[in-house]
Amino acid sequence: MTALEISGLSKDYVDAYTGEEITAIGDVSFTVDRGEFVSILGPSGCGKTTVLNIIAGFVKQTGGTVKVGGRVVDGPGPDRGVVFQSHALFPWKTVLGNAAFGLRMKRVPPKQREATAREYLELVGLAGFEHKYPHELSGGMQQRLGVARVLANEPDVMLMDEPFASIDAQTRRKLQEDLTRVFELRRPTVFFVTHDIDEAVFLSDRVIVLSTRPSIVREIVTVDLPRPRTWRETTQLPEFRHLSNRITELLTGGAEDVHPAIDPD
Ligand SMILES: Nc1ncnc2c1ncn2[C@@H]1O[C@H](COP(=O)(O)OP(=O)(O)OP(=O)(O)O)[C@@H](O)[C@H]1O
Ligand SMILES: [Mg+2]
Repeated sequence: MTALEISGLSKDYVDAYTGEEITAIGDVSFTVDRGEFVSILGPSGCGKTTVLNIIAGFVKQTGGTVKVGGRVVDGPGPDRGVVFQSHALFPWKTVLGNAAFGLRMKRVPPKQREATAREYLELVGLAGFEHKYPHELSGGMQQRLGVARVLANEPDVMLMDEPFASIDAQTRRKLQEDLTRVFELRRPTVFFVTHDIDEAVFLSDRVIVLSTRPSIVREIVTVDLPRPRTWRETTQLPEFRHLSNRITELLTGGAEDVHPAIDPD
């Protein structure tokens, strides 16, 4: 069953200073099945965040349609949950209060929302921290809380924009493995923006590779690696290296690419 359907998406922006119109997204179409993990990769500025923001309903597209669960998206809604790069937590609420926030908005009764919030906190490794405040957590823990908060809402589609980009390499590895474990247990539908090719291959069932701006889908790469995955074992598989190299080629190859394809970070 299709959870997310993007067809003929395009987006023109007007530069606030020059008044010049730029086409960020040229023509992008893809679908994400229910319970599928799909990442999107592409050169910096090709419109990955814009695609995510359009799906979230924060930004209006110029052309094309977005459907979530068969319904046309026309603004934000509880059927989509966004995990931001920065944590976007409520500093005055406890960990438990943050995790239960969306359920409170949905008017889930207190006992039930606490039970659900605790369940997802445990799943992301935050059991025992329920009564702490966000400032008492490390960056990695705050990001886990961001993930738990969205998962607790059980959205039709979970949208993540480089959620681990600002986290140190060692913690990032752990978060990638934990996200994989949670995904394998609960099978949410995930649309994940990243710059990191290995991260995309490790996490995903399919990887969408975009071209430079105005972006089109250059290729959709299927990642047929066995699950459950662990970083150590999965990244050592010859097929992993093959997929990673193939995507690197797609991002760097092609004579029309005048911009560096990948950010050094
Ligand atoms: N609000 C805006 N107004 C004008 N131009 C914008 C706006 N938001 C994005 N753009 C432009 O649209 C293009 C795509 O931006 P977007 O942030 O979606 O790219 P991205 O692929 O997420 O980049 P990165 O990998 O650096 O995060 C860029 O050229 C950017 O400058
Ligand atoms: Mg971006």
